[in-house]
Amino acid sequence: MVKQGLILLIASIPFLAHSIRNNNNETDNSIDVLADDEISSFKPGELWLDNNGEHINAHGGGILYDKGTYYWYGEKRGGRRSEGVNVYSSKDLYNWKAEGLALVPVQDTLSDISWGCIMERPKVLYNKETQKYVMWFHLELRGQGYDAARAAVATSDNATGPFKFINSFRPNGNMSRDMGLFLDDDGIAYHIYASDENYDLRIAKLSDDFLSPTKEDKLLFRNHREAPAIFKYNKKYYLITSGCTGWDANQAELHVADNLFGPWKSLGDPMRGENAKRTFNAQSTFVLPVAGRTDAFIFMADRWNPKDLKDSRYIWLPISLEQQSPLIEWKNNWSLDVFN
Ligand code: GAL
Repeated sequence: MVKQGLILLIASIPFLAHSIRNNNNETDNSIDVLADDEISSFKPGELWLDNNGEHINAHGGGILYDKGTYYWYGEKRGGRRSEGVNVYSSKDLYNWKAEGLALVPVQDTLSDISWGCIMERPKVLYNKETQKYVMWFHLELRGQGYDAARAAVATSDNATGPFKFINSFRPNGNMSRDMGLFLDDDGIAYHIYASDENYDLRIAKLSDDFLSPTKEDKLLFRNHREAPAIFKYNKKYYLITSGCTGWDANQAELHVADNLFGPWKSLGDPMRGENAKRTFNAQSTFVLPVAGRTDAFIFMADRWNPKDLKDSRYIWLPISLEQQSPLIEWKNNWSLDVFN
C-alpha cells in the first residue's frame, strides 16, 4: 500500500509541477482538479497571487477602471528597494494579471527618476480630452532620503504603459509626500497631499490636462495626517487618513465635507473589529468604487513589512454605509456579494 502510494506520488510530480507553472487562469483539462486556481473571494492580509503565481507587487496603490477592466498600479518593491511602478489588470477584482512595469527608474543619473530614487503611492486617471493616462506619484530623489518631497507626473497612451516621465515638482512650492488623486463627477481632478513635513494635508485642483496643479490649492487641516484616500457618497466627500508613524500602523480617521476644499469634519475612527485601533495593522491607500454597482466601495490599505516591503500584504475591506457614517469592519474572507 505504502509503496503503491509512493509510486503514485512520484508519478504525479510532473503534473503537479505543470499545474504550478500553468497557473495563468487557462483551463487545462488534463489536470482539472489541480488547475482550478481561480480566486473568488478577498482574504485580507494573506498572500495574493497573480497569474504567474507570484505575490502581487503593487503597494501604496490605486485602481483605475477603464473600458471594462480594472488596472491596479502600485509600488514595485524588491526587498526595501523602490523598483518603479507595477501594473496589473483584472475583470473581476479577484484575479490579477501582471502587466509588468508601467514606469521604471532610468540609468541616467541626471534624471529625477534615476535608479535609487523612491517612487511611492502611484495613482492614475484617464483624461478624456487629451486621451492620455496620467500618473501622479510621490517622488524622492536618489540619495536624498525623504527630503525632496516632490510630486511627479508621467503619461501614457495605454493603461498598461509604458508611462513617460514628464516632470517632478513641489506643488505651488509646497512639500508633497503621501498623496492621492480624486476625479469628481464633473471631470475635475484633484491632488491631495501631505505637506509641511506631513503636518498639513492639502488639496490642489489640477489643470484640465491633469498635468499640473492650479493655484487653487488649499490646506484641508493641520493634524499630522497622511495616506489620504477620498471617496464620494451621497453628495458628500469622505476622506480616510492615517497618522504619521512611518511603516508602523496607527489609528485611522474619517473626515466628511460637502465641498472638497472644506470645511472637513472629523467622524472619528471608522474601523471596527480586531485590531481596529491600528487600522488592522495597515495604512490607507485608496478607496475603490466598484464599477457597475451603486454605493459599493472597497477600502484598500497596506500592511507594510518594512524588512521586506515586497512581502507587504493587502487589506481590502468593504465600506458599510448602513450606519450614520461609513464603517469598515474586519473580515477574514469576503466577496463582492456583500454589496448585493
Ligand atoms: C509612511 C508613508 C509611506 C512611506 C513610509 C516611509 O509614513 O505613508 O508611504 O513613505 O512612510 O517611511
